[in-house]
Amino acid sequence: MRILIVGNGGREHALLWKLRRDEPAASFFATQPNGGMASDCESVQIEATDVGSLSGWAISNKIDLTIVGPEAPLAEGIVDHFEKVGLPIFGPHARAARIESSKAYSKELMWNAGIPTAEHRTFTDLPAAEAWILRQGAPIVVKASGLAAGKGAVVCTTEQEALSAVRSMLGDCIFGEAGQEVVIEEFLEGEELSVFALTDGEHSVILQPSQDHKRVGEGDTGPNTGGMGAYAPVSIATPELMEEVGSKIIQPTLRALVEDESPFQGLLYAGLIKTEDGLKVIEFNCRFGDPETQVVLPLMQDSLLDLIATVAEGGKLQPGVAASRPDVAVTTVVAAGGYPSSYEKSKEITIPKQLESENCIIFHAGTTRREGQLLTSGGRVLAVTALAPSISEAAEASADAAGQIEFEGAFHRSDIGWRERLRQDQ
Ligand code: AMP
Ligand code: GLY
Repeated sequence: MRILIVGNGGREHALLWKLRRDEPAASFFATQPNGGMASDCESVQIEATDVGSLSGWAISNKIDLTIVGPEAPLAEGIVDHFEKVGLPIFGPHARAARIESSKAYSKELMWNAGIPTAEHRTFTDLPAAEAWILRQGAPIVVKASGLAAGKGAVVCTTEQEALSAVRSMLGDCIFGEAGQEVVIEEFLEGEELSVFALTDGEHSVILQPSQDHKRVGEGDTGPNTGGMGAYAPVSIATPELMEEVGSKIIQPTLRALVEDESPFQGLLYAGLIKTEDGLKVIEFNCRFGDPETQVVLPLMQDSLLDLIATVAEGGKLQPGVAASRPDVAVTTVVAAGGYPSSYEKSKEITIPKQLESENCIIFHAGTTRREGQLLTSGGRVLAVTALAPSISEAAEASADAAGQIEFEGAFHRSDIGWRERLRQDQ
């Protein structure tokens, strides 16, 4: 079997790692693979968003199955392109990917289908948005409607902050087209949960729920990032809560998408928050989460490849929950100094030889190999996943291993999983 992975971050390295375990004999290819993926697959030197060139390449190279990691190629219509030429591909069509690529669309879909989410208004006009913020007061959340590489949501504690966020998006166009429409929504308080539903558009297999750590600083302080670490399982995701996620969130969302002639086949990621008023959706994504995938897949016992191939070939899934090994996984992101603001690249990375083991996996994200050297090439550089019988052991092993990786300016959070550890201590 010849499998193409589109994308080259930590999530895609984790996909490669898992699919390789599911089908060791397969040949793997990836677009511009990072320094860790490169030794385990063949490199395809085409941009992930160049969907026309990629489908041509996939035909010439007899690819049997393609799996798309990031949202940008999905929003560009990579699945529509591949299907047109008869290539099996896992991911939603561009129309369905709007659930992530347009927050305005996603909020409207949720609102119409009665799916619990923060109250919101959508604006394209700056004075109207400013007036709304002054009327509502802080705290309040300002979001670019389009794709903004995880940086488009600003949680504002003062009206001033919210006014400056909306001015930078609608006035100064810091996110370009993506910020020409903004969603302003009510601030929700509670613990977050990431749920991955692998779906054929009607039925879903729910993977192990996990928890991301979005803020850059220890104790969840500082600006939002793409995610500084994650862990799974999460004890707030009880069987009752997951039943509610399925019946009140995932299933009605899939039905609403079908009714909107945008059936969703792929991985629907629900970003949830458990508030005092119950569970609410913060956002939907149309792909696997990063860094959550780096804890969910190492725990997954079932074959991911079987599920993905079934959906890509237009088959039906047996609804249920994917089996997970009875351990805890914690991943700690090692980031470049300055991230999530500007940071330098091309710093030499040193990873101690004995660091990697059966229970310590180093997923590369922003790395590249040049003339035998491993160098940084992004803000989130590596994700170190540790597996252990308890949250404390996994968290300590992950933070300890992250601390042993060296490059100029490297930093990580050493408190990933702190909420779960507090619960276990009580
Ligand atoms: P988003 O880009 O919509 O996923 O938002 C990124 C992060 O901002 C979320 O994971 C939350 O931590 C935070 N956030 C987004 N929307 C809200 C909200 N309405 N209330 C509180 N926090 C939010
Ligand atoms: N970890 C958040 C995301 O993948 O969007």
